[in-house]
Amino acid sequence: MEANKNRILVFGGTGYIGKYVVKASISLGYPTLVYTRPINSQTSPSKIQLCKEFNSIGATLVEGELEHGQIVRVIKEADIVICTFPYPQVVEQLKIVDAIKVAGNIKRFVPSDFGVEEDRVHPLPPFQAFLDKKIKIRREIEAAGIPYTYVSANCFGAYFVNILLRPYEKNKDIVVHGSGQVKAVLNYEEDVAMYTIKVANDPRTHNRIVVYRPSKNIISQNELISLWELKSGQKFHKVFVPEEDIVKLSQTLPPPEDIPISIIHSIFVRGDMANFELEEDDLEASQLYPGYNYTSIDQLLDKFLVDPIPPAYGAFE
Ligand SMILES: NC(=O)c1ccc[n+]([C@@H]2O[C@H](COP(=O)([O-])OP(=O)(O)OC[C@H]3O[C@@H](n4cnc5c(N)ncnc54)[C@H](OP(=O)(O)O)[C@@H]3O)[C@@H](O)[C@H]2O)c1
Repeated sequence: MEANKNRILVFGGTGYIGKYVVKASISLGYPTLVYTRPINSQTSPSKIQLCKEFNSIGATLVEGELEHGQIVRVIKEADIVICTFPYPQVVEQLKIVDAIKVAGNIKRFVPSDFGVEEDRVHPLPPFQAFLDKKIKIRREIEAAGIPYTYVSANCFGAYFVNILLRPYEKNKDIVVHGSGQVKAVLNYEEDVAMYTIKVANDPRTHNRIVVYRPSKNIISQNELISLWELKSGQKFHKVFVPEEDIVKLSQTLPPPEDIPISIIHSIFVRGDMANFELEEDDLEASQLYPGYNYTSIDQLLDKFLVDPIPPAYGAFE
């Protein structure tokens, strides 16, 4: 690794998107620190295995709690902080904001956004309440004068292929949310991670929002199903769920089960990922890095044909 490269510290690096971020950081040659909750008898075998893998590829693991003194110390060892905390822990990032303020050395902070462009959408109330927490972190970062990049990664591609197409099942029914014609954006997780490391280090993205909307990854549910039929040689029966039913569910399901259905509504009924034009002044990842060969949705489905990417966890089930 080159000595003059930014040192990247990842919070939440053993998580679903975090592990891709850590691997991308290492693969791009950055000295990479992973701050992780202490490993003990309760730690899952999969996390222990992943930590071994991180060690073997050259990441430095630092175990600790989200305690002010501990995180100030680790932040002082880094130049860039990327956080991939899960939704329930989003507000915990206030502790990271405080620690970055005190440490005073961080050149860029990328908080745990990784979804729709939260400052530009107005979804159903349960999803809006979810986004309000992320928006609060953005405003705190700005008030603290911390240099930032906010990323709107849109859908994690493999994660959403599993939700929409359920390629791991033999079932021939596929649920379509709304009309199926609304465009969404599905980006392969490895690309989300690579773009995130690139934008975190890029002077052009200082205090800016970057939207990950590569042209080959904009697709509707109906188009995705047709493409999967073509590739897999199967014929599916579409079960359409009308918007009224989705809205009703968002109003009747108990929290937090009302959140996933409200996210589905935002993405696949309202089209919140692709229903606004990117203006000249907006930053889009594939345009910032035209030399980076991202995985198109077509190529992502090929991966599922060869070796299905297992569903991450039970969310949305
Ligand atoms: N665009 C999309 O399609 C999409 C899909 C899913 C999620 N997201 C977003 O991506 C971001 C990351 O989500 P994720 O699903 O990747 O996260 P995740 O896998 O659930 O968790 C990430 C890591 O956070 C750390 N963590 C710290 N405190 C924790 C606690 N009290 N409980 C559980 N974990 C804790 C854990 O790492 P250690 O144990 O190492 O500390 C965990 O591995 C979020 O902003 C989420 O909203 C986007």
